Amino acid sequence: MCGIIGYVGKRDGLSILLKGLERLEYRGYDSSGIAILQNKTIKYVKKAGKVEELKSSLKQSPLMGKVGIAHTRWATHGEPNDINSHPHLDITGKIALVHNGIIENYQDLKKILYEENINCVSDTDSEVLVQLISLIYNKSNKLSFQDSVRAALKEVVGAYGIVVICSDFPEMVISARMGSPLVLGLGDDEYFIASDASPIIEHTRDVIYLDDGEMAVVNDNKYYISNINSKKIISKVVDSIDLSIQEIEKGEFSHFMLKEIFDQKHSITDTMRGRLNFKDGTTFLGGIIDQIESIKSASRIYITACGTSWHAGLIGKHLIEYYARIPVHVEYASEFRYRNAIIDNDTVLLAISQSGETADTLAAIKKGKNKGALVLGICNVVGSSISRVTDAGIYTHAGPEIGVASTKAFTAQVTVLIMLALKLGRKMGIAKTKGKKIIQSLNKISKDVAYILNSYEDIKKVAEKTSKAENFLYLGRGINFPVALEGALKLKEISYIHAEGYPAAEMKHGPIALIDEKMPVVILAPHDNTFLKILSNIQEVKSRKGIIITITDRPNSELTNLSDYVLIVPKTHQHVFPITSSIILQILAFELALLKGCNVDKPRNLAKSVTVE
Ligand code: F6R
Repeated sequence: MCGIIGYVGKRDGLSILLKGLERLEYRGYDSSGIAILQNKTIKYVKKAGKVEELKSSLKQSPLMGKVGIAHTRWATHGEPNDINSHPHLDITGKIALVHNGIIENYQDLKKILYEENINCVSDTDSEVLVQLISLIYNKSNKLSFQDSVRAALKEVVGAYGIVVICSDFPEMVISARMGSPLVLGLGDDEYFIASDASPIIEHTRDVIYLDDGEMAVVNDNKYYISNINSKKIISKVVDSIDLSIQEIEKGEFSHFMLKEIFDQKHSITDTMRGRLNFKDGTTFLGGIIDQIESIKSASRIYITACGTSWHAGLIGKHLIEYYARIPVHVEYASEFRYRNAIIDNDTVLLAISQSGETADTLAAIKKGKNKGALVLGICNVVGSSISRVTDAGIYTHAGPEIGVASTKAFTAQVTVLIMLALKLGRKMGIAKTKGKKIIQSLNKISKDVAYILNSYEDIKKVAEKTSKAENFLYLGRGINFPVALEGALKLKEISYIHAEGYPAAEMKHGPIALIDEKMPVVILAPHDNTFLKILSNIQEVKSRKGIIITITDRPNSELTNLSDYVLIVPKTHQHVFPITSSIILQILAFELALLKGCNVDKPRNLAKSVTVE
């Protein structure tokens, strides 16, 4: 949450920082701001609202300079208004700071500042840090500016990614990381520091990922990275980013979410590229090749994740237990990190995350590691924190996902989980023919997705017919129960329509009371071993006059008679149905949100990357 960026170089800082903010806006969009060193003084503009508001203000009073910092905010402490927006300046106006994270002991630090007659002007935790840096820097004539930043950071409890400038050092930008991501971009006589690589790639491909406890100082066209506490210089690997500009732009699409739904025509295949072994009915997962034996002999697997990734984890449980017969527990990372779970050397902890930066998932990983578990990751963002702190892992290779609601990352995660379950299953002795069967279905998935996308208008019609509903119910059984949860989450997060996902048979233990002629009920009804049971559940909804929207895998007259709407995905393996059916649910949610006039790519109160707990 929150996107931060800094620039130091020879070019116009304002345009670089503004473009960077637009790229980072998916991380938070309730306010934004920019500070630039202009004739050795710091000038700034900050505005509540989207980056567009900031741009309008800057048109009236532009800033000029070659060194600056900027921020797009997802508020934690203090409402989203101009004053609480970043950058924050110290009382002398000589130091400016942008911050992503939470300073947990900010009240204690505020008291220290108060005793020194320093009063913060904002309600944020972040301002405390810039005032503290200033206090240390101005009070001590022995400490350099860099060391004053270090000294202040040593007092901080919490998480931060920060970028700081000081008008006494007009060529210097300092950044530091503890818990919130930062990437340093190395250009030609210019440097960029940002929360992720998206604002950097049009300027340079050479980047360094900062790790926790590290500080990067750029000054006089040179940089060094050191440990915040010990000051020890750290030699870091320069990575090359393999990401194209087209991948992070909407192109011909009206919304990132729509683009990403359509991307699934190829993204699922990208996830599987080079990983399917048709001949042996198994898969090849290079990232965890050395861990397969340990996973096989594990006493239990915990899957930990948040939100949509947690739903993928629930599907993973079905798959791994079905194919490999290893007990799997799926836990919200936010719960797992604080509970006394049974973790030992025989435990495998599998963390799933699109961004690879989710604070709770990172904390769950830390816990697993400390207790001796083998920690694996399924991640989309290459070089992300989770991909670097896990012992080994599998990238989903879905490409950048920018729409706040996860779509192609989810289908990629499920695809990886199928491949993992199959790999383990084949190692545990399931028949080659069983493996070949699911691989055949995976192999034709691009065609299946194309078929679903071709039926877009049919799905849109269902959205039009149900757009007045205030509540939706999603029902599924077995492996499709998590799909129901995911469908409900997609709808509520982008359209603000209340929706719930339920195991279909659980409906009669409570939620059935909600059903009347105004309630659309979306039912996942593939022709698998649950089909007859689902038919009975549909009858139950029908008897209560609910509006029935069925998603199935082949025409069926009984379903047609019972349902108000039937949406069909091509016939596929029962374990691939969660992927194809979820694409229908994504389109349905997208269209309902559009009909309600919602900002689909930037839903209220949300941010793409949840880097606070
Ligand atoms: C919903 C959504 C969120 C994320 C969750 C975890 O559409 O995107 O629920 O799935 O915040 O994020 P990652 O996967 O980045 O750890």
